Amino acid sequence: MVRQNILHLERFNMHKKRIAIAIDGPGGAGKSTIAKHLAKELDILYLDTGAMYRACGLKAARQNMDLQDREAVAQMLDDTKVDIRFVSGLQRVFLDDEDVSEAIRTPEMSVWASDISVLPCCRKKLVALQREIAADRSVVMDGRDIGSYVLPQAELKIFLTATPEVRAMRRYKELVDKGDGTTTYDHVLQELAYRDQQDSSREFAPLVCTPDAYRVDTSEMDIDTVVRTILNLYEEKICDQETKE
Ligand code: DC
Repeated sequence: MVRQNILHLERFNMHKKRIAIAIDGPGGAGKSTIAKHLAKELDILYLDTGAMYRACGLKAARQNMDLQDREAVAQMLDDTKVDIRFVSGLQRVFLDDEDVSEAIRTPEMSVWASDISVLPCCRKKLVALQREIAADRSVVMDGRDIGSYVLPQAELKIFLTATPEVRAMRRYKELVDKGDGTTTYDHVLQELAYRDQQDSSREFAPLVCTPDAYRVDTSEMDIDTVVRTILNLYEEKICDQETKE
């Protein structure tokens, strides 16, 4: 892995063009872990777009909003500032200037995020911010609609997936490691099934695997293998292409 990475970075240094890598897929597929590794290997920015939807969901939850009341939600979002700041290379999410990076990581906020992300007014606001961040730098961006809607011109598109059981077990272990002693595996499995269905069936910018995306099933792969697989695709797709130009 190490030798391969050095080789890879040498090639990256020759790389002049701005690049975008889109990592889409359902919850628990390993998107953020893998995207973070890739960004580090390539020395480019990692943007977790799910965190932005979670921040909007958190605000709606705190106000106990009825998300069916679209006018009220649109008004609330108009008055909301979602900021992404990078502290020591790590992404922090700010909601109206409050750092909510930890508060958004609960199973309850996963559901609020999915529910509010159905609304076009929410998506339009956040997509504008995501495109602005990607406008003048290379990025690895993860989410649901990055390759299909946010950055359709992305040079490399990955659709990361795994079986529902594997995804639920990963999420469950993460929660246990964080000290959450109340959420059960079954609860996580149900929550993921709910979000899978809603995120894939919404009308505006749903979760899809586009025809130009590489589908990578991580059910039986460890992190290193997934990262290496994607770096190989990157080499083939981007570096080799540039060498030919
Ligand atoms: O990636 P995540 O689990 O943090 O995302 C939380 C929810 O946010 C997800 O269920 C749907 C929504 N989301 C989205 O609609 N589009 C994105 N690009 C990212 C997340």
